[in-house]
Amino acid sequence: MASVTSDIETPERGCPDGTPTAEDTEDTEDTTMTATLLDGELLAAKVRAEVTDRVARLRSAGVTVGLGTILVGDDGPSSRYVAMKHADCDDVGIRSAHEHLPADVSQAELEAVVARFNADPGIHAFLVQLPLPAGLDEERVLMAVDPDKDVDGLHPVNLGRLVMGANGPLPCTPAGIVELLHANDVPVEGKHVVVIGRGLTIGRPLALLLAMKRPGCNAAVTVVHTGVEDLAGLVRQGDVVVAAAGRAGLVTPDMVKPGAAVVGAGTSWEGKKLMSDVDESVAEVAGWITPRIGGVGPMTRAMLLRNAVRAAERSS
Ligand code: GUN
Repeated sequence: MASVTSDIETPERGCPDGTPTAEDTEDTEDTTMTATLLDGELLAAKVRAEVTDRVARLRSAGVTVGLGTILVGDDGPSSRYVAMKHADCDDVGIRSAHEHLPADVSQAELEAVVARFNADPGIHAFLVQLPLPAGLDEERVLMAVDPDKDVDGLHPVNLGRLVMGANGPLPCTPAGIVELLHANDVPVEGKHVVVIGRGLTIGRPLALLLAMKRPGCNAAVTVVHTGVEDLAGLVRQGDVVVAAAGRAGLVTPDMVKPGAAVVGAGTSWEGKKLMSDVDESVAEVAGWITPRIGGVGPMTRAMLLRNAVRAAERSS
């Protein structure tokens, strides 16, 4: 077992977790832009500053916050994403630990690493990067994580807490999206939000979160997917649209109510270029829009750091 770093976000799971590669940013196409940009980089920097303070407070009380990652296999984007999470940890003073397991690792060996992280008092929170290679039982692995160390908020206990409205770690991308909308004064409470996609890491938990009676949420939420009849007609009803289907350019201007807020949360790769579910020309009709790079992804990573420091605060 070698120690390395790395992480992936698959389109269906849709977590756009990354900072761009050179190829991502090379693109300089110009669209006539009227929408306000939902700048995730800017807000993530503020969250990192807050986390840095909290980490420092814990350090002066003798606690070094520790975040662990487990990566199975050698998927390229996964590796890059995990590496970015470790870089983020360095940035805010969190100690990070990682385990890189071969793609043919057995279920028992993987669960043994999870058990070791569960028992390690220096690791306050950790994640197993998804998806796992074929042959490994993802559900069993997620359930093996100690719910108190579940930095993803994906353990059934924590998803159950979300359903109940009880305190617990929130899945990072949904939490980041709600924060991004709130920080940009996008009206959500009492509004109609259309979520495209019902994956475990974004669509399903986001719909629950947005419908909750809490500040920045309290919305009427419709969950749709790429197989529904009249997808465009349904999406056009949204005051806020969150696309988390993992299909490049799925949301086009004709599908958007003028002035709506449009969030691209799903990603896919075209070669080495990270694509958003939202076509860039949507900026011509939307009131707010996430950039293809630097929207939801940085917020996901920032929320991971916040979940990690919260886990450490709870256990100290
Ligand atoms: N892969 C894609 N999204 C996620 C996520 O939110 N958590 C983990 N662990 N893996 C992912």
